[in-house]
Amino acid sequence: MFQKNISLKPYNTFGIEAYAESFVSVTSLDQLQKITEKHKDVFILSGGSNVLITKNIRQPVLHLNMQGKSIQKNKEENIVFVKAMAGENWHEFVLWTLENNFGGLENLSLIPGNVGTSPMQNIGAYGIEIKDVFHKLEALEIATGEIRTFYKNDCNFGYRESVFKNIFKGKYLIINVTFQLTKNIHKLNTSYGAIQTELERNNIKNPSIKDVSNAIISIRESKLPDPKEIGNSGSFFKNPVVSIDQFKDLEKEYPNMPYYKVSDKTIKIPAGWLIEQCGFKGKRFGDAGVHQDQALVLVNYGNATGNEILDMANNILKTVSNKFRIDLEIEVNII
Ligand code: EPU
Repeated sequence: MFQKNISLKPYNTFGIEAYAESFVSVTSLDQLQKITEKHKDVFILSGGSNVLITKNIRQPVLHLNMQGKSIQKNKEENIVFVKAMAGENWHEFVLWTLENNFGGLENLSLIPGNVGTSPMQNIGAYGIEIKDVFHKLEALEIATGEIRTFYKNDCNFGYRESVFKNIFKGKYLIINVTFQLTKNIHKLNTSYGAIQTELERNNIKNPSIKDVSNAIISIRESKLPDPKEIGNSGSFFKNPVVSIDQFKDLEKEYPNMPYYKVSDKTIKIPAGWLIEQCGFKGKRFGDAGVHQDQALVLVNYGNATGNEILDMANNILKTVSNKFRIDLEIEVNII
């Protein structure tokens, strides 16, 4: 069932060439349980949209590819529960919910990756995070083979964070995720910057969830590179959160610096702006580069190695730290 020496290039959105000594694509829970009973040291690969692979992988690579989605019965008038298996492509799943006129995921359109990894880093965009629509997930504990249900409170969701990236890292395999969506009356979130402008540009006054999704798709396409054309992993760094005092000092020096208030004591600063100010936007180092339209996205123009991308990232970290006294944090998992 395992294949030998498989190239992982098609399985990571950065398009990095690296090899798995052994590889299996898993399509059923039964198969997953059998494999993890024998192999406890598996390396888990899902949509490959949040990893930077810097070496060949010795452990057995398990590609989570279970498919299927369903609408769960429930009596509440405006609530619908929708369950998807981990291997479902995220964006196709979002489109399917919209075809059914279920609301809640429209702002998360066109995010690369699969359903199973969406809760791990609490994916978010344009004012919405997974935690806002998450109901529960089922995960297999590798050590015991037991299936455990995690509700929202069990996941400890934060900004691009969850228990699956921290205390439970590598311990559980997410099998399926259930979302709580709206059935008829939808609560639109169009306050994030460019959405309103994009809707107005198309003369849309009373947008449907599909209109919002289309607006998000246009915005994303206009500044984020399509991984099918240029390898990338979305935002490579998190937006840093600084104290009010630090922010005030910076603002004196850089009055045009964009920011969002997080709380009374903390401010989030766009890492893309910091990186652009350091002169990296659009820069290219061989086949590794910083995207020309969004400096937060590092790209592989073809044959960059994981280490070339990582060297560039470390160069960015050092330069931003020297100039702004802010230590950026990498969002992508470095393997
Ligand atoms: N900006 C620059 N230069 C740049 C990029 C951004 O000056 O090169 C400035 C923009 O002008 C704007 C601000 O930074 O004032 C924010 O930019 P943007 O709206 O593009 O969002 P972001 O903060 O850079 C975050 C998420 C994205 C998500 C967008 C939209 C993180 C780490 N990233 O980016 O998520 O799509 O907001 O909601 O929070 C991802 O996680 O992979 C991802 C793409």
